[in-house]
Amino acid sequence: MKSQYISSALPLLLAAFFSFSSAASPHDDFLRCLSFSSNLSSSIANVVYTPNNASYSSILESRIENRRFSDSGTPKPLVIVTPLLESHIQVTIHCSREHGLQIRTRSGGHDFEGLSYIARVPFIVLDLINFRSVDVDVENRVALVQSGAILGELYYKIAEKSRTLAFPAGSCHTVGIGGYFTGGGYGVLFRKYGLAVDNIVDARLIDANGRILDRESMGEDLFWAIRGGGGGSFGIVLSWKLNLVTVPSTVTVFTIGKTLEQNAIKLIHKWQYIAPQLPPEMYFGISFSRTNSSQDGKKSVLASFTSLYLGGTEDLVALMHERFPELGLTSKDCIEMSWIESMLYHGLLQNQSVEVLLDRDYESSFTLPYYKGKSDYVREPIPESGLLGLWSRYSEDDAASGVIGFFAYGARMAEIPETATPFPHRAGVLYKIIYNVGWRQEDNINNGKYLRWIRRLYSNMTTYVSKSPREAYINYRDLDIGTNGIGNTTSYARASVWGRKYFKNNFDRLVLAKTMIDPENFFRHEQSIPPLRKR
Ligand SMILES: Cc1cc2nc3c(=O)[nH]c(=O)nc-3n(C[C@H](O)[C@H](O)[C@H](O)COP(=O)(O)OP(=O)(O)OC[C@H]3O[C@@H](n4cnc5c(N)ncnc54)[C@H](O)[C@@H]3O)c2cc1C
Ligand SMILES: *[C@@H]1O[C@H](CO)[C@@H](O)[C@H](O)[C@H]1NC(C)=O
Ligand SMILES: *[C@@H]1O[C@H](CO)[C@@H](O)[C@H](O)[C@H]1NC(C)=O
Ligand SMILES: *[C@@H]1O[C@H](CO)[C@@H](O)[C@H](O)[C@H]1NC(C)=O
Ligand SMILES: *[C@@H]1O[C@H](CO)[C@@H](O)[C@H](O)[C@H]1NC(C)=O
Ligand SMILES: *[C@@H]1O[C@H](CO)[C@@H](O)[C@H](O)[C@H]1NC(C)=O
Ligand SMILES: *[C@@H]1O[C@H](CO)[C@@H](O)[C@H](O)[C@H]1NC(C)=O
Repeated sequence: MKSQYISSALPLLLAAFFSFSSAASPHDDFLRCLSFSSNLSSSIANVVYTPNNASYSSILESRIENRRFSDSGTPKPLVIVTPLLESHIQVTIHCSREHGLQIRTRSGGHDFEGLSYIARVPFIVLDLINFRSVDVDVENRVALVQSGAILGELYYKIAEKSRTLAFPAGSCHTVGIGGYFTGGGYGVLFRKYGLAVDNIVDARLIDANGRILDRESMGEDLFWAIRGGGGGSFGIVLSWKLNLVTVPSTVTVFTIGKTLEQNAIKLIHKWQYIAPQLPPEMYFGISFSRTNSSQDGKKSVLASFTSLYLGGTEDLVALMHERFPELGLTSKDCIEMSWIESMLYHGLLQNQSVEVLLDRDYESSFTLPYYKGKSDYVREPIPESGLLGLWSRYSEDDAASGVIGFFAYGARMAEIPETATPFPHRAGVLYKIIYNVGWRQEDNINNGKYLRWIRRLYSNMTTYVSKSPREAYINYRDLDIGTNGIGNTTSYARASVWGRKYFKNNFDRLVLAKTMIDPENFFRHEQSIPPLRKR
């Protein structure tokens, strides 16, 4: 199986469609519309790419983060537009509607399922690569950031101006602002300051009618919806206004690895009780990787306990001695640094210069080039027997390139009400799990066994994770959820299956916001919020 898209008959139809696209086709009409619609025709021509343009492929490929979706079987856009002006976006929306083409909006291209650049209907990609300014106002502690910027650019620009201001967002610096913010956005400061969306105070959006709206003109329901209701449903968010947060000029990190032989299971079991109760200054996660036992060279699992502490070594060691002495943390394990250095550390960019944060093309070490990810939320500690079961799955050959991570919740995350934003995984969540299985190009022939492994693992975890609904994180997009990989978003019933996993009862309010702003369902994809049917 090349990918779940291929299993449907639709790509075949699309392939047929492509084969006579050199004759007159919908995209010719679309292009003609672009050039006639405004006096922008000359300037927009410079940012419109069809497969005939030499750089079409490189532009398309440059933001395909998951290589599963770069093979020749993956549906390709008829046209890519990389707008320079807001009016370019307005014209693109107008002409797409006029000629029945769908739009996929792309910021950083990190969607786990490639939804920012794949559709199974004729479509164009609107790539926000040129909308990536970041303006930091230290005095007022705010930043204005455009959706096409990456997280690293935001961090870099903040750190350039202040050592004690920060923004609470994710560790992988190449993630795009546009997708990350529309899906909620967690990171190593979230126990202290909540999600990224908890710190957003305004936004600028273009709707399906080409209107440009800010918080005041869009109204609170829509402003609520775009802060976590998922990208690609409500319109195109151009930019965001953020409140910056304060951090000490020195923070502390550590990573301590323990194998099975070093009592990892007991430590992880204990961690579940301790980590969610720690003060908000402490981020605490565990990531699992496979290793060979030092004793007999047999397969084993390495659990890496990793932290960011908003304070110094002495306080951190004292805190750990009091709450989690079994881990045996000593000051030798701790490294003090600035917040921006801690972002390099947690971004797996240790020892690199801070300029790496500006490198959009940096190949992330978080995943292998080809991958599948899933998520879970845990509300009851998993018994040791369950952790052992997880371990044995993880020792299977097919799990060779699997990574599992646990991220402690609690503190600020538990204080913000479930309905404050669309992101509902708040009080009562002990921690979140991410599952990832990756592989390289030369191993792509075996992708089926990796996909089967992660699905098996997910099914195996059912007993231990949140239930009714089994919660999932929208930004760890998973088309297995509720759609069996053949999304049909026109079916409200099916949408509410994944919708309640991602949003719980906030799904209903998202549907109302969608119905209000985009009743014709112009902005849609396999997991976009459906509008209510017209009566
Ligand atoms: C290596 C890696 C590490 C990650 N780490 C974290 C993490 O630490 N914390 C976390 O919370 N998440 C994390 N994620 C998940 C990440 O937040 C999501 O994949 C996010 O959607 C990516 O945003 P993007 O702009 O790069 O993606 P894109 O693929 O460009 O977009 C994702 C979705 O949003 C839509 N969209 C994009 N831009 C806009 C816009 N301007 N307006 C409206 N809709 C838009 C797209 O159409 C698509 O549906 C990680 C992902 C990866 C691959
Ligand atoms: C071209 O667009 C600008 C604004 O974008 C407008 O002021 C101007 O009048 C337009 N010119 C014509 C000939 O339509
Ligand atoms: C793509 O090719 C067309 C036709 O040759 C040309 O008009 C257009 O300017 C090209 N686009 C870019 C971005 O170079
Ligand atoms: C473990 O050992 C095997 C066999 O010696 C080797 O192929 C494998 O790469 C090792 N794995 C790790 C994670 O070191
Ligand atoms: C970073 O440098 C230190 C000291 O030179 C070294 O011990 C460590 O292994 C390096 N880390 C990485 C991730 O390269
Ligand atoms: C995982 O599933 C297998 C069978 O599919 C079962 O034997 C095993 O007990 C399960 N383990 C856990 C931890 O649920
Ligand atoms: C999607 O669902 C709608 C409503 O249930 C149905 O009419 C339509 O045929 C479905 N489309 C596909 C492609 O399955």
